[in-house]
Amino acid sequence: MSQSNDFYWGTSVAAYQIEGAWQEDGKGLSVWDAFSNKKGNTYLNQTANVSCDFYHRYEADLDIMQSLGIRHFRFSIAWSRIIPQGTGHVNQKGIDFYNRLIDSCIKRGIEPWVTLYHWDLPHVLEQKGGWTNRHVVDWFKDYSEICLKHFGDRVKYWMILNEPMVFTGAGYFLGIHAPGKRWLKNFIPAMHHAALCQAEGARIVKHYQPQAQVGTTFSCSYVTPFSNSPRDVQAAQRVDALLNRLYIEPSLGMGYPVKDLPFLNRVEKYFRNGDEKLLSFEYDFIGIQNYTREVAKYSWWMPFVNADLVKAANRGIEPTLMGWEVYPECIYQMLHKFASYPGVKKIFVTENGAAFPDKVENNRVHDTKRTQYLKDHIAQVLRAREEGIRVDGYFVWTFMDNFEWAEGYRPRFGLVHIDFDTQQRIIKDSGYWYRDWISQQTTIL
Ligand code: NOJ
Repeated sequence: MSQSNDFYWGTSVAAYQIEGAWQEDGKGLSVWDAFSNKKGNTYLNQTANVSCDFYHRYEADLDIMQSLGIRHFRFSIAWSRIIPQGTGHVNQKGIDFYNRLIDSCIKRGIEPWVTLYHWDLPHVLEQKGGWTNRHVVDWFKDYSEICLKHFGDRVKYWMILNEPMVFTGAGYFLGIHAPGKRWLKNFIPAMHHAALCQAEGARIVKHYQPQAQVGTTFSCSYVTPFSNSPRDVQAAQRVDALLNRLYIEPSLGMGYPVKDLPFLNRVEKYFRNGDEKLLSFEYDFIGIQNYTREVAKYSWWMPFVNADLVKAANRGIEPTLMGWEVYPECIYQMLHKFASYPGVKKIFVTENGAAFPDKVENNRVHDTKRTQYLKDHIAQVLRAREEGIRVDGYFVWTFMDNFEWAEGYRPRFGLVHIDFDTQQRIIKDSGYWYRDWISQQTTIL
């Protein structure tokens, strides 16, 4: 058997999506608090002010996790919970919460995997320009130090940023995520500063905890051309550069993929002496987060990339609730792609999962499509591993249904169903399936 004990099976969540308690115990507002509480920004104007109320219910939720045999739990720290003003004063009650959470995991034999930044910048920092302001690098370093000083003794696995392409792309170019900013004048500086923070944060982890394993996570999609025409093939290449190469390449010392995306030249304006070096770091691992593939088509009018994505529904394919195609081989392709970079030592799939309509029937949720999705994608991960790709773990997105950003509560990705009116939890069939799967993997040895 190629699977072994050193393959980690886990689940992932993010602070803003599950915690609730948005103004409790001294927490400051984050950009997502501000964005979702403003009308017109999210599906049905939903917010995560309460969400799964994990802030109060984490013990019971960890009990469920333990009962399913899930031994690895990836969560993030809410910056504004521990430093309400973004810099300066540290909120002891926020620190206490994460201490309790980490200890409660360890007590149950669950390994905590911590993401430093999963999209919830303190709102006061956004008022100073947020990711577009070069000072964010210092703010982020201070924040990282606080986390390491308080939690570094017990957390072995650290991830610096969650999907920088998505929070800068959706938040600073498209304006559909917090803070709702647009265009290259915001995106380019945000991108450069996020890329710098990624490496600076990693250096801080290693400085305080040389034994820790440090990584960062990248969103990725397998990109294929709509047709074999040279224009579509080139369009796919540009989309691939944008979605899959933009952040990993500078982090490996290769610079931004300017050749395929000439508009990235504008980053020079924000470059300072020595930045080239500051962008790179020798990560112990990278996390890849993959859900689907994209089909790219040449488009003369799409600014900067001259490419359009052809939606699954327009290709006659029944999509998930996110509009995404189910295409299991995508994760296999992405593992090969990211593993082919010489600087990548080890990969964890830090997110993969699917949103389908779920129905509660007699206290059960028979989510056969989700179970099938997980089975098929895990099979592709193991296929890559058997071929020698160093992939050592897989985390389902997500442990329990939660707030899916601008899409609100409509898409449910969880292994555990949540009734957001009563806060009742029901383990879905996919959750029981994952429990059985994990237990088979560890007994095979
Ligand atoms: C990526 C993000 O990291 C996570 O927050 C989100 O909920 C999932 N993908 C699903 O879209």
